[in-house]
Parts: sequence; structure tokens; C-alpha cells
Amino acid sequence: MPTKVIAVANQKGGVGKTTTAVNLSACVAAVGRRVLLFDLDPQANATSGVGLEKVEGASAYRVLLGEGGLLEKIQNTAFDRLEIIPSEVDLCGADIELARAQDHLHLVARALQPVLDSQRFDVVFVDCPPSLGILTLNAFAAADGLLVPLQCEYYALEGISMINRVMTQLHDQGINARLELMGVVMTMFDSRTKLSNQVVTEVRQHFGEKVFETMIPRSTRLAEAPSFGKPIIHYDKYSSGSAAYELLAQEVLARLDRAAAAAVTTAAPV
Ligand SMILES: Nc1ncnc2c1ncn2[C@@H]1O[C@H](COP(=O)(O)OP(=O)(O)OP(=O)(O)O)[C@@H](O)[C@H]1O
Ligand SMILES: [Mg+2]
Repeated sequence: MPTKVIAVANQKGGVGKTTTAVNLSACVAAVGRRVLLFDLDPQANATSGVGLEKVEGASAYRVLLGEGGLLEKIQNTAFDRLEIIPSEVDLCGADIELARAQDHLHLVARALQPVLDSQRFDVVFVDCPPSLGILTLNAFAAADGLLVPLQCEYYALEGISMINRVMTQLHDQGINARLELMGVVMTMFDSRTKLSNQVVTEVRQHFGEKVFETMIPRSTRLAEAPSFGKPIIHYDKYSSGSAAYELLAQEVLARLDRAAAAAVTTAAPV
């Protein structure tokens, strides 16, 4: 089965991208899949979220500029089947530097190819920075699917309409014709507030089945876990956040498996 690349993205800051990338990666690894978490955000929150220090020169940055290979950047985490390409501040300069490179939207896709060819992973989750800059567009160009976390707040829908527009552009310009919106996950859901419920209703009206059934509750345990360098299932296994990300992982895997089965059916000779 080919490795699937999923970009976790939303240009809005603080909506739960990293929390989702880290915890989903950990939950998918926990059920037996081999996962690579690719931290493409100079803030390096996913890196520290799985307990790694930010180390100069450890990120994908130099590889994207043509030095060395991405396979050498992969590091183990303390968690079975979960490996990471860390980030660090170097990536800050990436937008400017990468913009000058030839074919600058395909740098991540090209760098990832040997990792995909190695078949070491079932899934790669890419944690994107909060912008639609060159790093995020590179992730889009390399991905099979986009997973968009939307915070249950008033302006949630605005963010996703921009993502849709960019996705259409990438399709139309032949940059990544296979890119699909894999799903939308509602984060920081608070069932007691009218606003949370209204936002979910509105997002479901727009995106129907693309919206995952599982919603991620607002939970202090989820917010605390990164300071211990642990995904929630290893920090507080019996918390509501843990249960939610475990369920989300099941849904994500079901969608991936369905897509893979459909691809096999289409490819099979009649
Ligand atoms: N479900 C949740 N319940 C409570 N706090 C949460 C939840 N999800 C995320 N947070 C907290 O909200 C903040 C933003 O989350 P996170 O870092 O995952 O967002 P992000 O979209 O990756 O941010 P950025 O755009 O800066 O990369 C963090 O402090 C995180 O711990
Ligand atoms: Mg983040």
C-alpha cells in the first residue's frame, strides 16, 4: 500500500493544527500503522509536542534547499511506530529562500519522494504553519489529502473558503491534481455553548460528510500534554481528549482505507 501524505493545515493560527497532527499521529501509530510526523512549522510545536528538543540543523530546511536527503532527517520518538522530521528556527527563513529555488512549490514533494519510495511509513502527517505561504503550499503540493482543523468559533468558515480556493488553483495549474479535502475536524468544541453548536451546524451544512463525526472537545489535559512532550494518549489515556483523538484516528484510517480500496478497484483489469 503506498504511503499516504496528509497535510494538516489552516492558515488561521491557534486552531488546533499541531494538537491534531501530534495526537492523530500518536493514535494512528498506537493502532499499528507506521507514522511519520513531518514538522513543517518553524515554531516547531509538533517537535516539542512529542518530546524532542529543537536542534539547529535537524530540520528539513537544508534538504529543501538541495543539501542531503530527508531520510537522514528522520528521528525516533519515545513512542512505537511514531517517527518525526523535526523543525527548528532555521525554517523561518524558508519562505524567502525557497521562493528563489527552481520549481519552488515542489521542494517538499521532491524531498519526500525517497521517503515514500522506502515504504517505511503508512502515513505521513505534515504539520503546517499558520499561513498559506510557501511552506504550506509545498505541503499541499506533496499531499494526497488535506485535513483541516476548524476551531468552533465565529470566523471558522472564512478560513476554509480560502483553503478551497487554493486547492482549486493547485488543481487548475496542474501543481497537484490528486489533492483532496480529506476532512474537516471541529476542534475546541464546547457542547455547553450555543456558539460551538451553531458553528458545527453551519460547517456541516457547507461540508456535509467531509466533516468528521468526531469533534475534539476543549480540554485542559490536551493543552497541558505538550509541556510534558507527550501526545495525549501517553499523557492521560483516559481523558476525553484521548478518547476523541482515538476516535478521529479510526475515522481517518477508515477514509484512507476506503480510498485505497477504491483505487485498487479502479486499477484492476475488468
Ligand atoms: N481541544 C483543545 N482543548 C484545549 N486547548 C487546546 C485544544 N486544542 C488546542 N489547544 C490549545 O490551543 C493552542 C493552539 O493549539 P495548536 O498549537 O494545536 O494550534 P495551531 O493551529 O497549531 O497553532 P499555530 O497556528 O500557532 O501553529 C495551544 O495552546 C493548544 O494547547
Ligand atoms: Mg501549530
